[in-house]
Amino acid sequence: MVKKNVCIFISGYGSNLKSLILYSRNYNFPINIKLVVSNNLKAKGLSLARKNSIPYLVIDTKKRNYEKTILKKLKKNKISLICLAGYMKILSKQFILEFGKKIINIHPSLLPKFKGLNTYEKALENKEIKTGCTVHYVDEKLDNGKKIKQKFFFIDKNDDIEILKRKTKTLERKAFPEAIVEIFRYN
Ligand code: GRF
Repeated sequence: MVKKNVCIFISGYGSNLKSLILYSRNYNFPINIKLVVSNNLKAKGLSLARKNSIPYLVIDTKKRNYEKTILKKLKKNKISLICLAGYMKILSKQFILEFGKKIINIHPSLLPKFKGLNTYEKALENKEIKTGCTVHYVDEKLDNGKKIKQKFFFIDKNDDIEILKRKTKTLERKAFPEAIVEIFRYN
């Protein structure tokens, strides 16, 4: 199998990055993680990149042309898929167009419900009976593109924000790799 070169964008903890690193070690899994991009120098996920000898780029989003810097690196590394794994910046329409290849995101709710932040709070306030995560293609609108994979669980009456987060993250660690297998199934 010829594996695709992938770049993972992070801002924080990196539990999804960790799961994708583990999966990508399997020769049957369709990607190699060639690059990690973070907008946060203190992101815990960066230590995973270091530990696993994955090159990484920390960007300063206050600089005007920071997206150009990322695009150059993506090109240099022949990246054919970007996975947003907790990346807390919105990509510009221009960036999406110029990259011109697949970009996917993982979101901690059952989209189209609860786009944006505080999804666990919103699920509880709304008295949802279930919640979960969604992997979807990225377009210029927030948490909006076509769905690839969704996983859910039923909310227990004792579940609070922390418990919902833990349960959702457990699902995310499977949903992201499954979505990647799905999108490369036929190419
Ligand atoms: C995940 O819950 C993801 O759904 C959201 O940001 C979180 C990132 O977590 N977009 P981690 O950094 O992968 O642990």
